[in-house]
Amino acid sequence: MKILMATSEAVPFAKTGGLADAVSALSLALAQEGHEVRIIIPRYYSINRSNLQYLEGALGVHTGEREEWSAVYTALLPGAPAKNPVPVYFIDHEQFFGRDGIYGVPSEPDFLDNPRRFTFFSRAVFQLCRKLGWYPDVVHAHDWPVALVPVFLKYGERTGGLAKTVSVLTIHNLGYQGIYHKDNYAYANLDWQVFYEAGFDDWNMMNLLKAGINTADKLNTVSPNYAAETQTQAYGFRLDGVLRYRSGDYRGILNGIDTKVWNPKTDWYIPKPYSMKDMSGKRLAKEALQKEFQLPLEPDVPLIGMVSRLTEQKGVGELFGPAYGSAWSICQDMALQMVLIGSGDPWCENEIKSLSSRLANFKAHIGYSEAASHLIEAGSDFFLMPSRYEPCGLNQMYSLAYGTLPIVRNTGGLADTVENFNQDTGAGTGFMFNDLTPQAIYNTVGWAVWAYYNCRSQVEAMRIRGMQQDFSWKKSAKQYLALYAEALAQAAKKSG
Ligand code: ADP
Ligand code: GLC
Repeated sequence: MKILMATSEAVPFAKTGGLADAVSALSLALAQEGHEVRIIIPRYYSINRSNLQYLEGALGVHTGEREEWSAVYTALLPGAPAKNPVPVYFIDHEQFFGRDGIYGVPSEPDFLDNPRRFTFFSRAVFQLCRKLGWYPDVVHAHDWPVALVPVFLKYGERTGGLAKTVSVLTIHNLGYQGIYHKDNYAYANLDWQVFYEAGFDDWNMMNLLKAGINTADKLNTVSPNYAAETQTQAYGFRLDGVLRYRSGDYRGILNGIDTKVWNPKTDWYIPKPYSMKDMSGKRLAKEALQKEFQLPLEPDVPLIGMVSRLTEQKGVGELFGPAYGSAWSICQDMALQMVLIGSGDPWCENEIKSLSSRLANFKAHIGYSEAASHLIEAGSDFFLMPSRYEPCGLNQMYSLAYGTLPIVRNTGGLADTVENFNQDTGAGTGFMFNDLTPQAIYNTVGWAVWAYYNCRSQVEAMRIRGMQQDFSWKKSAKQYLALYAEALAQAAKKSG
C-alpha cells in the first residue's frame, strides 16, 4: 500500500510532544511491513536546510487569495529498512515557516496566521503528489493542523491520480481543534456551502478539526478507552456529538513505542544497560539520576520521576497549583525523592522552581532534554502522570519498559496500558486513582511509597511484569493497515 503521512511534527525533525514520536514510529513500522510510506511536513526554521536535499522546481499552491510558492526539500527518515526507505518531504515557505516555533513562541503561543500556515500546508500535500507523480492509496492526516487534508480531498482534490485516494484522520489530542475566526475560511479556497456541509461552523467560528472529523473516510484516536471517552460529554471537548455521529468509522488504536530508542537493554543515555535478568543497571541509573539532579545519594529511598509538558492536560494544577496542589505535602510528609523535567505554562514553571528551591527532596529542570528524560525513566522507581485526560500517553509505556512503576489517573490510554496494583494477589503494573484531586494524588503516591517499603517482593514482581509487556508498533501498525483497507473497500463500494 502507498501511504502519505501529513503531519506538523515528526521526530527527529520537529517535536513538541508524543505526536512526533507516534508519526515517525508508525511510518517505520509500516515500512517494516513492506509498505511504501512517505511523510510531508513543513520545513520549520529549526530544520537545517543544509542537511536536506533540494528538489528541483517550485511548488505552486492555489489559495483563496493568490498562488503561494514554496520550495521542497527531502531527506530520509532515519531507522527505515535499507530496502524500503521512508522519504520525508519538507515544504519550505519562508513567510509561513521561516521563524522560531512550530505553532507559536512563548510571547505568541498560537501564531496569528496559523490558520493560513496550515491551510496552505494542507493544500500543498496534494500539489506535492502531483509534482512527484506519486499518488498514495491513503493520505493519513494527524491532528488539527492537517485536518483540512480530508476536506480538500473530498471537496476538489480527488481527481486524476488521486481519484481513488482515501483519507484517514488520527486525533492525537481533542483538546486542540484549530478554532479560528471564519474570516480565515476564504483562504482555504472552498465554497461557502462547504463551510456548512463539512461542518466547519462552530458557533460562527471556523473549526478545522471538526470539519476533518466530518469528512475523513476513517477516523481514529490513539487508544480504545479514549475513543470511548471522547464520545461522552465529559471528554468530548464539545465534539462528542460529532464523534458519536461518526462512531461507525471511528476506532481506538493504541500507540506503540519505538523500542530501538526506548529500551533499557540498548539505551546509550544510561550508565549501564539492564534487563529483566540483570537489573543492576537500574540501581546505577538511580544513582546517576540523583547525582544529575543533586539529590542525596539514597539507594533505598523511593524516587518518583516526571517528564511532562506542563499544561492543564497533565494534571499539573492538582499537583503544583499554588496553595492547593499536593506536591508540597507529598514531599514534606513522605520519605521519598522526586525529580521532574518539563516545560510549559509559565505559572507552573515558576511554582516548580520555587518548590525545587525550598524542598531538599524535590529537584526539577525546567526545559527539554532527551538525555534527562531517558535517565528519569531508567533511574526512577515510580513515574507520576496524573493526567486530566490522556489520549494515549507514551511516558507510562516507556516507564513500564524500564521497570519503573507508573502512578497514573485511570483515564484514556493510561487505563489501557497500566493495571492497578492488587495488594491481595500482587497483580498489577502500577498504581491508579479515579478522581483528579490533590488528595487522590497524595493518597496514591502514599500507597506506592508504602508498597515500596512494605511489599518489596511484590513491587519487584510488578517491575518485571511491566518489562514483559509488548508495546511494539508492530501490533498497532497492523490495526492501521486494517483501517486503511476498510477505508479503501468502503470507497470502492461507493464508487462501484
Ligand atoms: P504528550 O504528547 O501529550 O505530551 P506523550 O506522553 O504522548 O504526551 O508524549 C510526550 C513525549 O514528549 C514523550 O516522548 C516525552 O518523553 C517527551 N517529553 C515531554 N516533555 C519533555 C521534556 N521536558 N524533555 C524531554 N522529553 C519530553
Ligand atoms: C498527544 C496526546 C498523547 C499521545 C500523543 C501521541 O500529544 O496528548 O496522549 O500519546 O499525542 O499520540
